Amino acid sequence: MPISHVLSFEGGRVETQEDESVLNALLRAGLNPAFSCKSGSCQTCMLQAESGDIPERAQRVLPMHLRRLRYFLPCRCMPTSAMSLRRPHPNDLVTGCQLCEANVQEDGRLELVFETGRPIKYRTGQQLRILVTGRDDEPVLTLTSSPERDMLMIGIIDAQAARHLPPEMQGQMSDEEVFGFAFEVRGPFDDVPPRELPSPEADATLWDELGGDTRVRAVLEAFYTKVYADEQLAPFFVKVTRDRAIDKQFSFMKQCVTGEKIYMGDRPRNAHHWMIITHELFDHRQSLMLATLKEHGLTDELIARWTAYEEYFRPDIVKSAKLPRYLGDQPIINTSGVTREVIGESTVCDHCQSEVLAGETVLLHHHMGTISCGRCADVEAVAE
Ligand code: HEM
Ligand code: FES
Repeated sequence: MPISHVLSFEGGRVETQEDESVLNALLRAGLNPAFSCKSGSCQTCMLQAESGDIPERAQRVLPMHLRRLRYFLPCRCMPTSAMSLRRPHPNDLVTGCQLCEANVQEDGRLELVFETGRPIKYRTGQQLRILVTGRDDEPVLTLTSSPERDMLMIGIIDAQAARHLPPEMQGQMSDEEVFGFAFEVRGPFDDVPPRELPSPEADATLWDELGGDTRVRAVLEAFYTKVYADEQLAPFFVKVTRDRAIDKQFSFMKQCVTGEKIYMGDRPRNAHHWMIITHELFDHRQSLMLATLKEHGLTDELIARWTAYEEYFRPDIVKSAKLPRYLGDQPIINTSGVTREVIGESTVCDHCQSEVLAGETVLLHHHMGTISCGRCADVEAVAE
C-alpha cells in the first residue's frame, strides 16, 4: 500500500499521494501555495516546517540561517512524515541585493534602485528593512516600483533613516562606486508604519506679521477659490465643501505657526492617505498659493516663512501609491466597506465635526478613511 502523509497548511489538510511533492499536494488541495519554477531554483515556494522531518535534498540550496529555522523548498520535497507548514515570516527573509542607483530627492529623501539576488514577491507600498552592520534599527525602505511594470526594484527612505546607511548608498558617491554595491534586506512587510512628521517649530511673530486671523482667512478664501476652479486640484475636493477646506487649513496652519492647540482633525499623512499626489502636483498647488500670497501684498520674506510650513509636510503628502490610514500605530488594511473600530487617538467626526475621544467606538468608512462618531453612526444605521 502506498505511503501517504498528512500535510497541514493555513487551516487546510491534504494527504500526499505516491511520488508527490509537498508543493503538488498543496496545489492539488487548492491550498494556494506560492510557486514559480517548480524545480528548486527560484525559491518562491519556500515554506517553514513547524513540525515533521525535512529531507536534506529539500534544504540543500538554502542559506544556513534558513535551514536552521526549518525552511525548505516544497517543490524539492518528497515528504517522509506528516508536516505542519506555514508561510515564511518576513523577518526571516533576508535577500541579497545589488545597488544600481542612489538618488537624493528634492525633499531630502533617498531613492534606491536595485536588483535582488532572488525574486521577491511584493506589492507597491510594502516595505523592506535594510540590514546595516552594527545597528538594530534597520532603515525602512518603502517600495515605489511595481512588480508588473518594473524590472528593477525602487524604494524610498526617509532622510533621517538614510543617514545610517553605508556611504555608497547615500547618493553622494560616484556612479562606479554605487553600481553593484552589495547590501541585504529583510521583508517585504506590510506593517512598518511610516514615520509621521512631528509638528514644526512655531514662529512667534509670523501670524501677526501676516496680518492675523483676518488676512490669513482672506488669503485662504482666495486660494481655495482657485483650487476649486483648478482642473488638476478640484477632483480631489469633490466630497469636501470649500468652507470646510478653508476652516481646516486655517486652524491647522494657525496651530503650526503659533503653537496654539486649536486644530482638531487628521494630521497630513492620514488626511491625504488615499490621494496620489506627485511632486509636480504639489508644486502646482504651491504656485497657486504663491500667486495668492502675492496678490495679498505679502513680502517675499513673509511668503518664504509661510510656505516653509507647507513644504515641511511635503514628505507626508507626496507619494506614488496610496497609504493605509492609521489609527495610532495600527494600519487599517481592509480598504473596502465599513467596520466599527475603537479609536486610539482623539479626533473629530467627519460628519458632524464633534470631538471623538480616544477609546470611543466609531464607524470607519475604509475607502475614504472617514469616521462617524457614535451618534452619526446610529443615524447612518437607521438610514440603511
Ligand atoms: C497638492 C497638494 C494637496 C492636495 C491635493 C490636498 C488635498 C486635500 C483634500 C482633498 C483634503 C480634504 C480631505 C477630507 O476632508 O477628507 C485635504 C485636507 C487637508 N489638507 Fe491637504 N492637500 C494638499 C496639500 C496640503 C498641504 C501642503 C497641507 C499643509 C501644509 C495640507 C493640509 C491639509 C489639512 C490640515 C487637511 C484637513 C484634514 C482633516 O480634514 O482632518 N494639504 N487636503
Ligand atoms: S517553485 Fe521555484 S524553488 Fe520551488
